[in-house]
Amino acid sequence: MNNILFVCLGNICRSPLAEGFLRHHAKLKGCADSFNIDSAGTGNWHSGKSPDRRVIRAAAEYGVDISALRARQISNIDFDRFQHIIALDRDNLTDLEHLRPSPSANCRLSLFSDLIDKPGFIDVPDPWYGSYADFESVSQQLDRACKALLEKLLTDA
Ligand code: 4NP
Repeated sequence: MNNILFVCLGNICRSPLAEGFLRHHAKLKGCADSFNIDSAGTGNWHSGKSPDRRVIRAAAEYGVDISALRARQISNIDFDRFQHIIALDRDNLTDLEHLRPSPSANCRLSLFSDLIDKPGFIDVPDPWYGSYADFESVSQQLDRACKALLEKLLTDA
C-alpha cells in the first residue's frame, strides 16, 4: 500500500486537487486499491471546509469530483502514517520541515516537482487570489503531474 499525503497551505485548493487527480488516475489504471491518498494544509484557517468552489468546478471539468473532501491541518501522526508527504510548493516544504516531529518520523518529505521528470514547474502556484483561468491552469498542471507521479510510484514499487 502506498500512503501518500499532499500538503499545501490551506487544503482547499491545490492539495485536494492533487488528491482527486491522483486517485482518479489510479482508478483509471485499475490500481486504486494499492493507494491510500489524502491531503492536508500546514494552516488551520479552513479546517472542516469544502474545497474552494472554483477548484470543485475546475476538477469537475476532468470528471473528478472533490466536493466531499474536507480541509484539515496536518498533525504529528501524519508523519508516521504516510510514507510520502508531498509539498505543493517550496514554502509548504519549509513549513513541513519545521513541523516534522523530531526525531525524524518514518516518512519521505518531498517537493512535488522533485519527484517527476521534466515537471515544467518548481512550485504549483497558489490560485487562491487569481482568476478562474488560474484554477484551470493549476488543474491542467496537476492532472499531468499526478499522472506522471503515478507512473513513478508504480515503477518504484
Ligand atoms: P491552498 O490555497 O494552499 O492551495 O489551499 C490557499 C487557500 C487559502 C489561503 C491561502 C492559500 N488563505 O490564505 O486563506
